[in-house]
Amino acid sequence: MNNKKVALVTGASSGFGQLSAQLLAQKGYLVFGTSRKEHSAISGVEMLILDVKSDSSVQSCIKQLLAQTNRIDLLVNNAGQIHASMLEETSLEQAKEIFETNFWGVVRVTNAVLPIMRQQRSGHIINMSSVAGLIGAPGQGFYSASKFSLEGYSEALSVELDPFNIKVSLIEPGYFKTNFNSAMLQPTLTYADYDNVRDVIRSSVQKAIAQGDNPEKVAQTIVSVAQSQSPQLRYRVGNEAQWLPRLKAILPDKLFRFGARKRLNLP
Ligand SMILES: NC(=O)c1ccc[n+]([C@@H]2O[C@H](COP(=O)([O-])OP(=O)(O)OC[C@H]3O[C@@H](n4cnc5c(N)ncnc54)[C@H](OP(=O)(O)O)[C@@H]3O)[C@@H](O)[C@H]2O)c1
Repeated sequence: MNNKKVALVTGASSGFGQLSAQLLAQKGYLVFGTSRKEHSAISGVEMLILDVKSDSSVQSCIKQLLAQTNRIDLLVNNAGQIHASMLEETSLEQAKEIFETNFWGVVRVTNAVLPIMRQQRSGHIINMSSVAGLIGAPGQGFYSASKFSLEGYSEALSVELDPFNIKVSLIEPGYFKTNFNSAMLQPTLTYADYDNVRDVIRSSVQKAIAQGDNPEKVAQTIVSVAQSQSPQLRYRVGNEAQWLPRLKAILPDKLFRFGARKRLNLP
């Protein structure tokens, strides 16, 4: 029987997911990565098909994993969806789609994995949050709201799972250069009052990611958190993740909001 630790990394076809899955494989984990599309194994990572928005897809992915191994030691809930649109210009349908991936997707996969981890009386769940889960991000409001939800869910979950020796951690990156821009959802509604800010918002979010930090840093953090004997609940990675929450904590609200508008060139 293979005694390697088993890891499942969602959204491993690119970005943080791909890098961390590969790094975990290098560190000796038996790694299963996922994508919505068919992929052959990538650098020691076996790829499974998974759409976190679908109950049946989640069930079938876990079933396939368990057909090859009888345990799951690490779950990295990394799959995510971004948008660049003002809140009012984002249809409710699109907002729900963002939550289906970023929040309910995490809940779905976690619920499918927990019975296995509870039976083992061990495991670690690492949820990919964002600095936007700590600060309401204009132009990415529903993304931000989904990550705030993930923060609250993970914090509560970590306490509930303590008796079963299952750890929960949150990774809170600032902006990093991945393929995240390519799947960015655009506004579905338009109101003339936002004509002067719509493009500014989109290009500022795109620029922040395109000029972001090296995603290897996030992958290395994920791996060191996974290997930690006593992991913390929260890990901030990257510049914005360090200084933005501190600024928010010390600045008067009015000044912080002025800064946020300035940064996005909003009137
Ligand atoms: N880049 C940043 O600056 C940044 C900052 C903070 C947090 N994050 C978070 O980091 C995570 C990864 O993002 P990334 O920057 O690495 O972006 P990325 O390169 O675009 O990777 C996103 C991954 O999510 C997968 N995915 C998307 N929707 C999915 C769904 N419904 N079901 C299953 N998989 C799905 C994609 O896989 P397929 O398309 O192959 O299915 C892809 O592998 C996200 O949760 C994001 O919110 C990113």
